Amino acid sequence: MREIFLVDVDLRRVPSLATDVLVIGSGIAALEAALAAAETASVLIITKAAPEESNTFYAQGGVAASLSPDDDPAKHIQDTLTAGVGLCDEAAVRKMVIEGRERIRELMAWGVPFDRDDRGDIALTIEGGHSSRRVLHADGDATGKVIERTALSRVAAHPNITLMPGVFAVDLLHHERVCYGAVAMETGEGSRRLLRIEARATVMATGGACCIYRETTNPEVATGDGMAMAYRAGATLADMEFVQMHPTTLYLAGARRFLISEAVRGEGAVLVNRRGERFMEKAHPLKDLAPRDVVCRAIMEEMARSGEPNVFLDLSPIPPERIRERFPNIMALCAQYGLDITRDRIPVRPAAHYFMGGVRTGLDAATDVGRLLACGEVACVGVHGANRLASNSLLEGLVFGREAGVNAARIAREPQPGFPERAVRRRFEHKRIPLDVEDVRRSLRSLVSRACGIYRDGESLANAIRMLDFWQQYVYAEEFASPSGFELQNMLQVAQLVARCALAREESRGAHQRREFPATDNARWKRHSLVSRFDFEK
Ligand code: FAD
Ligand code: SIN
Repeated sequence: MREIFLVDVDLRRVPSLATDVLVIGSGIAALEAALAAAETASVLIITKAAPEESNTFYAQGGVAASLSPDDDPAKHIQDTLTAGVGLCDEAAVRKMVIEGRERIRELMAWGVPFDRDDRGDIALTIEGGHSSRRVLHADGDATGKVIERTALSRVAAHPNITLMPGVFAVDLLHHERVCYGAVAMETGEGSRRLLRIEARATVMATGGACCIYRETTNPEVATGDGMAMAYRAGATLADMEFVQMHPTTLYLAGARRFLISEAVRGEGAVLVNRRGERFMEKAHPLKDLAPRDVVCRAIMEEMARSGEPNVFLDLSPIPPERIRERFPNIMALCAQYGLDITRDRIPVRPAAHYFMGGVRTGLDAATDVGRLLACGEVACVGVHGANRLASNSLLEGLVFGREAGVNAARIAREPQPGFPERAVRRRFEHKRIPLDVEDVRRSLRSLVSRACGIYRDGESLANAIRMLDFWQQYVYAEEFASPSGFELQNMLQVAQLVARCALAREESRGAHQRREFPATDNARWKRHSLVSRFDFEK
């Protein structure tokens, strides 16, 4: 197997660090993994931006767990399987739901102040596709921020964990499908120093890749680096065509696609067109709380019918004081643009939100690259299938983050051969060409949005693949000296995989809708899409 790295350096000349367990990322999956591994191992966390900067931090709606006496884990499992349209792995779902309850109790023990109702019980809301109220939330609509800060403070206090912010993982150090750590680059002001991090086990927890789309709820860090790094190291990726759009993101000229939580509909808000007419009643028995893929398609159809670029969320069924208490951040954000959500309807439309696919792992978070584990949104353990159930991903990060940490620490205790001291080989002759990284990034995001959005068709996908191939030829040949260039290379890689898997899947299922194949084809396609470098290098 040829080795592919994005930097062309002699590793022996690069300053080195050593650790038992290297964790890449600092969202919920990473922090949970680090805390679990640190029970018996030394842990180094690297993260490319500030420690908080992650999808986790921006999570609004909450975290799903069947804790109420009116609920039952079997119902949570069934709702997850139903939303996933036949592609969830039941054992993984079962593990997430059952062990998730323990992880939530652990969060409470760590001091996460989940919101409580008037009687002092944990307040539970409902979101699309759930048959019971089972979504816990904190500080109204700031659940992610509260959980992230609590976990970060535990990490900071742990004697076995070192956290290095502003360190960008460029590539895994790998040889013959075994991982030995990573090459990283410092991203601080004026510093672009490379580091060689030798690790006995490595946990990839770099989150998703929705920044390959022009319109997304995700922060800028979600560029798919972990998926691309694992792919270059020879790992199998699964279900890359399944990208979840969130139905309701703020649609105002000049405003970013800020998420308007599904919990807003959980508390009673409804989707309407400009004339104030509801349209979800005709679309699904669960109406405004149908699974996300269904709501997105209904919105797209309503927009096509009306010729409008958006629909509206009408919060008038919710009393104003309840809106203030439950959604203080959404309210404040909308107010910046002159919208008073206790009175005004919110203009919304779908935007890219979550990657169901990712690095294929087993229930133990192991990938098919030795000593490399993956967890959270970067991974595909099979809990989401073709469409994720709302508020299941923080839960997934907690459960499989812990699994990854425990197993990484176990692997780190095994006897191991030394680090293979070898110079990095190149795949292409690297060269310097004048390249406007921002321009390619913008073009890529527009292309992906057109070809790999809610509706796809073979011709657009084939054209997108050709274009991506073309860009890839010269963007991959360039050796960049800054993270934005590496991110572009990773985004190109991930976009290729999304488009190729979407072209291959000749059916419609969950978040993947092909115009020429509108039916779900269980006979041919009730299976995962698996892809690795070797498929394209035969
Ligand atoms: P992240 O939290 O995204 O963390 C990834 C980390 O990796 C970041 O720290 C990033 O900086 C770092 N990183 C990335 N690349 C590199 C690199 N090359 N080198 C070093 N570090 C790197 N889910 C729910 O369950 N409930 C919700 O209410 C909810 N609301 C959401 C609201 C929004 C606006 C968004 C965007 C998502 C929401 N989700 C929600 C989804 C959920 O937040 C994410 O799926 C989940 O937090 C992912 O956690 P993670 O730890 O896998 O990744
Ligand atoms: C939301 O609050 O609508 C997002 C929940 C999620 O993505 O799970």
